[in-house]
This record gives sequence, C-alpha cells and structure tokens, in this order.
Amino acid sequence: MELANRRIVLGVTGGVAAYKAAVLARDLMARGASVQVVMTAAGQRFVGAETFQALTGQPVFSDAWDARIENRMPHIELSRRADVVLVAPASADFLARIAHGLCDDLLATLCLARDCPLLVAPAMNRQMWEHPATRRNVATLRDDGVGFIGPDSGVQACGETGEGRMLEPSDIAEHLCAHFTPKRFAGRRVLLTAGPTFEPIDPVRGITNLSSGKMGFALARALAFAGAKVTLVAGPTTLPTPFGTRRLDVTTAMQMHDAVMAEVGGADLFIGVAAVADWRVANASKSKLKKTAGGAPPDLQFALNPDILAAVASLPAAPYCVGFAAESEDLERNGQAKRAAKGVPLLCANIGHATFGRDDNELLLIDEAGLTRLERADKNTLAARLVLEIANRLEAAAPDRPKARKSRARRRGKHA
Ligand code: CTP
Repeated sequence: MELANRRIVLGVTGGVAAYKAAVLARDLMARGASVQVVMTAAGQRFVGAETFQALTGQPVFSDAWDARIENRMPHIELSRRADVVLVAPASADFLARIAHGLCDDLLATLCLARDCPLLVAPAMNRQMWEHPATRRNVATLRDDGVGFIGPDSGVQACGETGEGRMLEPSDIAEHLCAHFTPKRFAGRRVLLTAGPTFEPIDPVRGITNLSSGKMGFALARALAFAGAKVTLVAGPTTLPTPFGTRRLDVTTAMQMHDAVMAEVGGADLFIGVAAVADWRVANASKSKLKKTAGGAPPDLQFALNPDILAAVASLPAAPYCVGFAAESEDLERNGQAKRAAKGVPLLCANIGHATFGRDDNELLLIDEAGLTRLERADKNTLAARLVLEIANRLEAAAPDRPKARKSRARRRGKHA
C-alpha cells in the first residue's frame, strides 16, 4: 500500500467540492494512510462532520478550543501527529487567510503551527481563481513553500467553464503518493515504450498480442513519482495516462520506432517495455479482404520490424537502456542471451504468458553483476522496486545530470 503508515490531516473548507473530499478520504485510506479530518465552519455547511467521522473512523475537529484534546491545543496536537497537511478543497477565503497568517479558526491555526509540509487543492469559481487578490495570495503561498495540487479547468458547479475546479480525488491521491516518493530521478528524462503493437492485415484486421501495457504504465507512473520527466510511447491500450506522464499514442511497430527515434535525444534512460511485433504484414490490403470462392487463405507476406531497443542501445550517445524479455521458459538463459543480443546493461526477464494482462508480476533482473530477483507483487509495487534498482545502476553509470535541468528541478522541488 503506497501510503502505508502515512498520517494525513485532511482539511475541508467551504466549497461544493467538499463532497469529493469524502471520496478522497476513502481513497487515501485505501492506499494505507490514516486520515484525520479538520473542517472549517463553512466546510460543515456542505458536508456534515459525521460523514467524515464514519468514513475515517476518527473524530472530526473544527473548534480551536475542542475539549477532546487534553491540553486544549488541538492546533499543536493534530499537526504534530501529521506527515502532511492536505487542504482539499481549499477555498479562495482559506487561501487568503493562510497567505496572511491569520489564525481565526482551528484549520488556519494548525496550518501556521505545523512543522510538516502543506498541500492545497484549490476549488473556486474561475473569476475568483483569476482575481488579482487570489493571484497574489497564491504567489505568496508558493513562495512560502506551499504545494498546489491543481486546480483543474472545466465545467463548474455554478455553470461557468474555466480554471478553478478541484482535481478529482484519485488525482489528488496520486499527488500524495508522488509527494512521499524520494526524488531519485529529479532532472532526469526518461523515455518508455509500453503495450502491444497492432500490425494491420487490412482496414479491419490485424496482428497483435496480449500485452495490456500495465507494467509499462506502472513504471511510467513510478518514474514520475520519483521526479523524472517521462515520455511514454504507448501502443493500443485503453489504460488511462499515468500520473505526470507525457503520452504519445501509436499503433504499429514502425510508428513506435519513429516516435522513439524522434524523442530519444536528451533522454537519460530508455526502457523498452512494449511487446513489439517482430513482423508486419508487407502486403497489407487497403480494402477489406474477402473470402475467395474456394476458401483459400490470403497470401500474407511478412517483413521484419526494426528492433527499437537495439536501435536505441546502438546510438552514439545512447541513454542508459533497460530491456524487458517476455519468455515462456528458461528465463535466465534466454534473458542473458537477449541482454547480449540487444546490447543493453539491464534486462528484466518475465514469463510472458503469465504476466500479460495481469495486475501482478515478478521479474528477474539480469545485469553484469548477475541476477536480482524481484518477488511477485502488484505491478505498482513492483514498478516502485524496479525504479529503485534502476536508480542505483543509473547513478553509478551516469552520475552527472546537466546543470540547467538540475536547477529547474530544484526550483520545482521547492514548491512540491
Ligand atoms: N523490442 C523492441 N523492438 C522490437 C522487438 C522487441 O524494442 N522489434 C524490445 C522489447 O520492448 C523488449 C525487448 O526488446 O524490451 C525484448 O522483447 P521480446 O519480445 O522479449 O524479444 P524479441 O527481441 O522480440 O525476441 P523473441 O520474440 O524472439 O523472444
């Protein structure tokens, strides 16, 4: 569980998005966090404290003089028990109050008294978000090191459309996971391929494979959590775009190859997770193939697709390359042979038919030092472990990061 042992104070202020904070509390708990809700009076106009109490199993606080806290100092007690204070939704009024250091209710006082990071997910009408007063308050808070999660843009509860909507609870929870991930890849650019490819036979038929893209997408997400600038070249899959990832959709192996070659310049790391078709149909038909009178099958001819991983690994200024190997047997021997054939420093071998489409996997890492086994786990957990393994190897192989990128990352980190 990605937020196991994390203690989160969830502040709920007055905005209609407060109803989504209930879903957020559950999502954070489902990821292993303990959630302590603190509400403003305006927040309680939208959702009752009992809802949060029932959902979190913890008493909800809103009064700075609450007698349930023995020393009558809930602003100190609650903030000292937290790893992070997350205010979602954060109203324009609340941002204004904390930008000026006001302590006129428990939540604002707690924000001033805290010794842990503060993250806010703003939610307000677009005019309020764009108002110069709010812009000043946001700038002040950013300067104070407060992290902003959103807002999103789209249709608002008031019927207007624009920037100011609170991000969806699951997106906010993803930000929390990223917040707690050490930034081993800050300043690094990573390019990945994931999913299957689809090689057309005619306009309605084609050849593909059972890859779901789940492992590659989980890896892209884990790398983004670790601070990498991630570009994901994805074959056909219905998976949602992972957190913090720039996604380029392709269909065929040739398109995947061309997209990778166009993007690989400046990458520090390339990971080929995609199950790329080795062959394409050389004589694909422009119109739908019809059954012939005698029932003879079409005369399909195949051409070899480029090996994307091998092509990247042989570039003069190649990034650190990681390959995956989908095998049906003898992982170690086949993996070692594939690592040599592709010319990559690290190869992750797995049993292809036992992982395609599944939510869990296990990996055998093969590099010059030998074998490292990553035990069976859900793909997000496995991806987080693999990211650490890659970070160790990448830092040893390419310890220097370009200075400009490093300082940009540092500036971003200040507000994270
Ligand atoms: N790969 C690639 N381009 C290809 C074929 C494979 O980039 N045309 C990459 C995959 O993304 C993976 C690695 O090479 O990282 C190994 O893929 P795999 O399908 O296991 O191996 P193949 O090279 O296709 O060999 P075989 O199918 O014969 O086992």
